[in-house]
Amino acid sequence: MDQKRVLLIVGGGIAAYKSLELTRLLRKAGVGVRPILTQAGSEFVTALSLSALAEDKVYAELFSLTDEAEMGHIELSRSADLVVVAPATADLMAKAANGLAGDLASTTLLATDKPVLMAPAMNVRMWQHAATQRNLAALKADGVSFVGPDEGAMACGEYGPGRMAEPAAIFQAIMGMLGGARPLAGKRALVTAGPTVEAIDPVRLLTNRSSGKQGYAIAGALAALGAEVTLVSGPTALSAPAGVRRVDVESARDMLSACEAALPADIAVCVAAVADWRPAAAGDRKIKKDGQAPGAIALTENPDILASLSKGKARPRLVIGFAAETNDVEVHAKAKLAKKGCDWIVANDVSVAGTMGGDDNAVALVTKGGIERWERMAKGEVARRLAQRIAQELK
Ligand code: C5P
Repeated sequence: MDQKRVLLIVGGGIAAYKSLELTRLLRKAGVGVRPILTQAGSEFVTALSLSALAEDKVYAELFSLTDEAEMGHIELSRSADLVVVAPATADLMAKAANGLAGDLASTTLLATDKPVLMAPAMNVRMWQHAATQRNLAALKADGVSFVGPDEGAMACGEYGPGRMAEPAAIFQAIMGMLGGARPLAGKRALVTAGPTVEAIDPVRLLTNRSSGKQGYAIAGALAALGAEVTLVSGPTALSAPAGVRRVDVESARDMLSACEAALPADIAVCVAAVADWRPAAAGDRKIKKDGQAPGAIALTENPDILASLSKGKARPRLVIGFAAETNDVEVHAKAKLAKKGCDWIVANDVSVAGTMGGDDNAVALVTKGGIERWERMAKGEVARRLAQRIAQELK
């Protein structure tokens, strides 16, 4: 990817700090980054940080004699293979949707003839406002691609959609759009992710703390290598990675049916934290509070999706499971490989605080041939490494 270049427009939002990490990821992958920092953006990150990480000059002003002498703004807008706006603020989206050109960032967006990817970031009410949604629709109709926003706690103290997608997810979307090597082109992949939700009655449920981050990152990494990916997901706060078809489910039984409907596939990666049991009798009436408290909720076993896919008639060529372990990680992973009938187990050590729901993962890849221990790394990096290994295996 040495010759590929991204023009990165950094808007004014608290998420701007994530664009420094994005710049680092792109540079590490050999992608050139030429930053444009808006005036509002410079309130959040400095031109110096951006320039140091991008290893390039930062452009900031439309009417700068020195900048214009070096590279005119029209030339700048076409100097890269892709224009990325991260964070794409409500203001930048509004300007681009309406063709305003009063500063360098908006002029660049109006003058460019290259594909544009936006990673929106704003307060939940600003995101949900009819004006922003109108601008979003207009930009999509103009051919602009989007990654995120995610749902979650916001720096302003509110909760909802509006958080900028994580740098790893933006990175993957960029790599997909830059069209790097696509060794998985023509291959179909099925990924399960997130928790499942099992009804106790129509309003109460049993679930777990899985965030879905690792599974979503794997779906995105496989898509970035050209695979046609179906992501069967329990409820999460994440947006589907670029180029991935997402099927939303709740219970383990729904997840199994959605997986079966997504076959045939060449690859299955089961990352979902499927509930092992569900309430045996979830009636269609709410259990009333008055009277005797139910002494216990009777449970019955859920189907094992990984085992069903591994042992089923339409078995994907490569079936991969995950194993969250707190002790004797590898011994348990080997036993699981045999029991589930899958090809690989990615064992992750959840005894390390912050792994569940966090951004890093320490994993070991257990195959019939042996064990590979990977150093602790970001979940996005684990996903990329795993996708590369899968591509190698299916070559
Ligand atoms: O059995 P255990 O939960 O330890 O195994 C974890 C692996 O099995 C994960 O890959 C998970 O996605 C998968 N699994 C499944 N269906 C279940 C339980 C686990 O697909 N009912």
